Amino acid sequence: MQKHNILVVDDEKNILKVVSMTLKKNNYEVDTARSSEEAIEKFNHNLYDLMITDLKLPGKTGIDLLEYVKSRNPSIPVIMITAFGTIENAIEAMKKGAFNYLTKPINPDELLTVMKEAIEKYDLRRENIALKSELKHKYTFTNIIGKSTAMQEVFDTIRTVSKTQSNILIIGESGTGKELVAKAIHYDSNRAEKPFITIDCAAIPSEIMESELFGHEKGSFTGAHEKKIGLLELAQNGTVFLDEIGELDIGLQKKLLRFLQEREILRVGGSSRIKLNVRIIAATNKDLELEVKEKRFREDLFYRLNVITIKMPPLRERKDDILLLANHFIEQLNQIEGKLIKGFEDNVIDVFMKYDWPGNVRELENVAEMSYILCPNIMINLTYLPSRLQQIVQVEKKPFDQMNLIETEKRLIISALSKTSWNQSKAADVLGITRKQLRTKMQRHKLLQGD
Ligand SMILES: Nc1ncnc2c1ncn2[C@@H]1O[C@H](COP(=O)(O)OP(=O)(O)OP(=O)(O)O)[C@@H](O)[C@H]1O
Ligand SMILES: [Mg+2]
Repeated sequence: MQKHNILVVDDEKNILKVVSMTLKKNNYEVDTARSSEEAIEKFNHNLYDLMITDLKLPGKTGIDLLEYVKSRNPSIPVIMITAFGTIENAIEAMKKGAFNYLTKPINPDELLTVMKEAIEKYDLRRENIALKSELKHKYTFTNIIGKSTAMQEVFDTIRTVSKTQSNILIIGESGTGKELVAKAIHYDSNRAEKPFITIDCAAIPSEIMESELFGHEKGSFTGAHEKKIGLLELAQNGTVFLDEIGELDIGLQKKLLRFLQEREILRVGGSSRIKLNVRIIAATNKDLELEVKEKRFREDLFYRLNVITIKMPPLRERKDDILLLANHFIEQLNQIEGKLIKGFEDNVIDVFMKYDWPGNVRELENVAEMSYILCPNIMINLTYLPSRLQQIVQVEKKPFDQMNLIETEKRLIISALSKTSWNQSKAADVLGITRKQLRTKMQRHKLLQGD
C-alpha cells in the first residue's frame, strides 16, 4: 500500500509535533509548515493527499491558504483546526470548500476518523476519473493467450519487468496485443491498485495534447476557463500507457523527455513544478529506429523509452497460437451470447493456418465473432468466413492449367497480397500494376476487406 501524504500547517511547534507523531504512528507520510507561505511553497512542489491547517496563522490566514490550495486543486480535502470560540471562521472555511473542522485541543481519534473519511472520498474521486480512461475490465495476465515459444518469451519478460520501475517500449504490428501486454504489466506490478491511463498519441490533436498530458492553469490560453489536471498527474503512482508514441508531435517529444528525466511536470501556464511518480509504457507499430534516422523522432527520447523493449510477434509467425486463440474467442462468445458453438470445422482451421493474418489477433477475433454470429449450427464451416478467407480454398482446389483467365488473375492477386501481408501498394508493385488498378480488380474478385 502506498502511504498517503499529508501536509500539516500550524505556527505552534508543539501542535505540529503532536499531530505529526499521531499521523506517522498511523502510517501516514507527514510534511509540516509553520506559515501559509511555507505551506504554499511545499504544496507547489509536492503532491499531497490531504492538508490540515490551523485557521489562525501569522501572515496569510488559514482561510487564505485554503482558498489558494482549492484554486489549484479543487478536490484535495482540507481539514481546518480552530481554537475554541472562533467557530464563525470555521463555518466560513466550510463554505469555501474545507472538508471539515476540528476544535482545539485536538482529539487524535477524532482527527484520524475525519482524515480517513476525507481521504477515502478523495481516492474514490481520483479513481473515478481514472476509470473513465480504463473502461474495460481489469486485464490479468491469464487473459493473454499463447503457447508459442515467442509468446512464452513475452510472458517471461512481463513477469520480470512488471516488478521493476523501468520504462518499457512495446513494438509490434497492429493487432498483436500491445495494449493487452501494457495492461498485464500494470496489473502485475505493485501499481495495480493505482490508475492505468491510456493516452492515444494518434487520436489527440497535437494542439491540445500538451494540456491533456500536463494539464493547464485557469486562463493560461483562450478557452482555458477552468484549471485542468493533466493525464500524467491523474495517473499519480500508477502507469501511463502512451499508445502510438511514434505519432507524438516533435515539440512535445522534448517536453515528454524533460518529464522522463526530471519526473516533474509543469502545467501549461503554470510556474511551479509538480513531482510525479508515474511509470511510462509506450507502444508503437512504427519502426522507431527508422523514425529516429529520418529525424521524425528524437533520438534521446527513443533511448529513454527504450530501456526495456518487448517485441510482439505477428500472428503469422506463431501459427501454433491460432487455434488456441480462435477457440478462446468462441468460448468467450458462448458466454456472452449464450449460443453453444463447439468450434470450427477442419477445413476452416486449414484456412486459418494458411491465411496470413495481416490484422493479427484483432483480425482473428473479428473473423471469429462474425462467423459466430452468422452460424446457426454447432460447428462453424467455410460458408461463414469472410470472402477473403474463402478465396484461399477455392483457389487451391484447381491446378493452374485447369483455371480460366479470371481465376488465374484472382489467384495471382491473392498470392501477391499474401506475400506482402495485404499491403496493397506493395502487392501492386509485385503485380506490375498501379494500386488503383489493383483495387478495382480486388473489388471485382470480392477481395476487399469487409466484403
Ligand atoms: N494473446 C492474446 N490473447 C487474447 N487476446 C488477444 C491477444 N492478443 C491480442 N488480443 C486481442 O486482440 C485485440 C487487439 O489487441 P490490442 O489492442 O492489444 O493490439 P495492439 O497491438 O494494441 O493493436 P494496435 O496497434 O492496432 O493498437 C484485442 O481485442 C485483444 O484483446
Ligand atoms: Mg493498441
